[in-house]
Amino acid sequence: MELRDQLESPLFTHFISDYAQPVGPDLLGRTEEFFQWQEARRQTGLWPYSRSLEAAPEASCGVRSETGTCRQGLNFGSQDYLSLSTHPEVIATAHRAIEQYGLHSAGSAMLGGNTAPSLMLEKALAEHLQMPHVALFSTGWGAGFGTIVGLVRPDDHVVLDALSHQCLQQGAMAATHNVSRVPHLNNRAMRRKLQEIRARDARNGVLVVTEGLFSMDSDVPRLEELQAICHEYNATLLVDVAHDLGALGPKGTGSLGLQDMLGKVDLVVGAFSKTLASNGGFMATRSPAVRQFVRVMGGPHIFSNALLPGQAAVVLEALRIVRSEEGEALRLKARQNSLTLRGAFAEHGIECLGEPSNVVPVPVGDAKVARLAAKLVFERGIFANLVEYPAVRLRETRFRMQVMSSHTEEQVRQAAEVVCGAIEEARALVKARTRPSRAARLEERLQAEL
Ligand SMILES: Cc1ncc(COP(=O)(O)O)c(C=O)c1O
Repeated sequence: MELRDQLESPLFTHFISDYAQPVGPDLLGRTEEFFQWQEARRQTGLWPYSRSLEAAPEASCGVRSETGTCRQGLNFGSQDYLSLSTHPEVIATAHRAIEQYGLHSAGSAMLGGNTAPSLMLEKALAEHLQMPHVALFSTGWGAGFGTIVGLVRPDDHVVLDALSHQCLQQGAMAATHNVSRVPHLNNRAMRRKLQEIRARDARNGVLVVTEGLFSMDSDVPRLEELQAICHEYNATLLVDVAHDLGALGPKGTGSLGLQDMLGKVDLVVGAFSKTLASNGGFMATRSPAVRQFVRVMGGPHIFSNALLPGQAAVVLEALRIVRSEEGEALRLKARQNSLTLRGAFAEHGIECLGEPSNVVPVPVGDAKVARLAAKLVFERGIFANLVEYPAVRLRETRFRMQVMSSHTEEQVRQAAEVVCGAIEEARALVKARTRPSRAARLEERLQAEL
């Protein structure tokens, strides 16, 4: 059957969340229903996830779908924002570190897993963030989750910006039942929530959680105001800078540097996996006690193997470049690419969301249109990630495009052209196949009668 004839089938109308709460005694068997739905999407080219890169995440590369279809094309789906993962000096550093330290870390950071590069990296990050005490984690996820779980106890409270990353949400839920979410970037709502919590509980801790740059929306909180509100209510602010660190701000200091907040927020966590060319993450604090407490009490630092020495060396070298004049030039180039991409979409009547950053969220809205468009975009050799409900709200399906310094202007324009064309085509197809609603039919009839 043609895809256009299946627009009302689960292929288009169902979401992951429809399958997320299976019931029944057979823990394994009850995954089948989700699998069947996912498999139907996979086999019709409507499952644009879990693809693999055939080479380094460069501007142009080969990508293979889960069903094995391979396409050569333009890569707008990687978060190697300054293209440092293929920088010759970063690669040379990795080679040297492997020669010197071997491939593996010897254990958890508590038990022999620290190495000379990891100690140097802690120092370099401390200087970069103006936060003297840094703990490393082997993933960015572990840093966010582990810091919250390390500090927060069941009687404490966590208040998250509603769009905070899953590692922060799940960390909060693992630590306490007292979890609240306030509308995205709404400092007034945050103040009201803290007021309400403090009116009934002055005895326990309150952790407020936000991000330096929200990676689905490319927007940024007002950090100085938020930190002041937190202090007013004796709450602690944690900012996850995974996406802005290195990619934005003077010397790559991210939103903290841009807002003159270096060294001024209570806690910073982040990931190396976006700009700094390796997996890994960190927590930074002004307090040596907090560092030691989170290292020992936050599971992922103590119960997971440490960052590999080669990874630590790579991040250190990437951070050196981030802070150099070359880093400044790379950020400028990425910013130009972001502005060009946004401008090209605007020429087609599509206003990208948020502020200029390496993340360029392209709103589509209707999930049916977006799924069809994502299929066309891949077939035409553009790799851009589709973001659907529940990762974003129901009517807010979008492409999340990510620009890197290594994209050329021509590549950026070509990508916008292809994505816009695919969205237009998909929209026309869905419109042609969708029966007008009763209200629309009535309106049409009234207009005809007038
Ligand atoms: C805000 C935020 N925090 C943490 C992470 C997790 O980082 P990693 O993928 O390096 O574990 C991500 C990654 O997507 C993120 O966006």
